[in-house]
Amino acid sequence: MKSQDSRMKLKYAVVFICIVALVIIEKESNIISRVSDKLIQRQMPQTPLDYNTTTTTTTTAPNGSLTFFQLLLSKLIGRKRSRSTPPDAGYTDGRKHILLLATTRTGSSFVGEFFNQHGGNMFYLFEPLWHVERLLTAGAEASNGTLLAEMYRDVLRRLLLCDFTLLERFISPPPEDHVTPALFRRESSLSLCEEHVCSPVIKDVFERYHCKTRRCGPLNLTLATKSCLSKPHRAIKTVRVRQLDSLQPLVEDPRLDVRVIQLVRDPRAILASRMVAFSSKYQTWKAWARGGAVPEDDEEVKRLKGNCDNIRMSAEVGLSRPRWLSSRYMLVRYEDIARYPMQKAEQMYRFAGIPFSPRAREWILRNTQTTQGASGIYSTQKNSSEQAEKWRFRIPFTLARVVQKVCGPTMKLFGYRFVDDEKTLTNKSVSLLEDRLFH
Ligand SMILES: *[C@@H]1O[C@H](CO)[C@@H](O)[C@H](O)[C@H]1NC(C)=O
Ligand SMILES: *[C@@H]1O[C@H](CO)[C@@H](O)[C@H](O)[C@H]1NC(C)=O
Ligand SMILES: *[C@@H]1O[C@H](CO)[C@@H](O)[C@H](O)[C@H]1NC(C)=O
Ligand SMILES: *[C@@H]1O[C@H](CO)[C@@H](O)[C@H](O)[C@H]1NC(C)=O
Ligand SMILES: *[C@@H]1O[C@H](CO)[C@@H](O)[C@H](O)[C@H]1NC(C)=O
Repeated sequence: MKSQDSRMKLKYAVVFICIVALVIIEKESNIISRVSDKLIQRQMPQTPLDYNTTTTTTTTAPNGSLTFFQLLLSKLIGRKRSRSTPPDAGYTDGRKHILLLATTRTGSSFVGEFFNQHGGNMFYLFEPLWHVERLLTAGAEASNGTLLAEMYRDVLRRLLLCDFTLLERFISPPPEDHVTPALFRRESSLSLCEEHVCSPVIKDVFERYHCKTRRCGPLNLTLATKSCLSKPHRAIKTVRVRQLDSLQPLVEDPRLDVRVIQLVRDPRAILASRMVAFSSKYQTWKAWARGGAVPEDDEEVKRLKGNCDNIRMSAEVGLSRPRWLSSRYMLVRYEDIARYPMQKAEQMYRFAGIPFSPRAREWILRNTQTTQGASGIYSTQKNSSEQAEKWRFRIPFTLARVVQKVCGPTMKLFGYRFVDDEKTLTNKSVSLLEDRLFH
């Protein structure tokens, strides 16, 4: 009898100690999250950054050890947050969240317009991660790919939830009272230029930050947040996410109903387009285009290979249908969009679970049928099917062959045909596209 009694006492004592321990852990993680917020704040410059002077950037660049500590903290907080989400989460009120992932020169501005032009129910953002990349890669050697990917993911997550505060820490100069004249390409987002997001023009100095459709003063992000919250659907286009699997926690966030659309294009076409659009950065390639052998161990060639491998690995993750992405991933080739813009747009909308709007339909009709008005390197006004093939006459066969060599597995995965000579490259009756369905 007595021994049973003391066993009970022991049990109660153990339970009590466990409860105390839990309370302490809970308190500590609160402290941790406060400390981490401070760390992040401290790391982000609160004063205007001049990108021409490297001294400012090195002092604000993340320190390796601090960065690691910070990541550890953010992971702890992440775990705590997900523990505290209500069990009925997953209910997003019919809201849809689209991430359009691409790389530069894949036609992503054009495809982004399919969603930007949807109308009043869509909140669309164009390359918000530009600010994050600019700040975090400023001190080149200090940049950490993992940290960058995690920061991209967190900023995207907050933006899909209509929260601009994390992005604000990357905008330079820092917004005052959540007002900024410096948001990258604001005018590319119809939602940021609507009447009720448009604040009065104070000085004509702000002229260049105006929207195309109306004269607006600097962007008031409080108004942008309000507008975003009032819209059922949100879409973000970005060319900066390198690895799809870095987005897993975002896709699994029960507050969001995310659909990922990965846009790809023939790597030979991408190179040809980049050599025109980013002319000064592609001097080496242009020299090779004029003749001479391409050294395969050159940094430029390695970079090309790295880009192709990233795109392929992301697609392999998506196409392998992991549980966390089930029915949330779609792979689209730019060439198919160029050939059948309307059908592809309809497919993307169906996949996203958003009704295709007459306004988007009208925009696509207007912008894929005409050869007039094509201008500017970011222009989306092109006869798309004609435009999609032009690269074949711009890139010399020697460079096409280099791309085929280092991007071979990527091209095979997406169904881009190899060519063996210049004649085939420039023979328009030879299609370089295999018919493929990516389900
Ligand atoms: C970064 O952290 C290391 C290790 O703690 C330290 O020695 C170094 O001084 C730090 N560098 C800067 C710039 O804070
Ligand atoms: C980058 O961050 C990861 C943590 O996510 C860490 O393991 C790694 O050492 C960091 N690399 C550098 C160069 O700081
Ligand atoms: C931005 O908009 C909010 C909400 O309407 C308003 O309260 C605030 O005063 C505005 N900020 C500025 C600087 O105009
Ligand atoms: C667009 O380009 C395609 C392919 O070259 C051509 O067949 C079509 O006629 C062009 N459309 C217009 C309106 O110019
Ligand atoms: C272009 O390709 C077609 C189909 O393979 C072929 O019949 C034609 O002879 C080629 N034209 C030239 C100029 O090589």
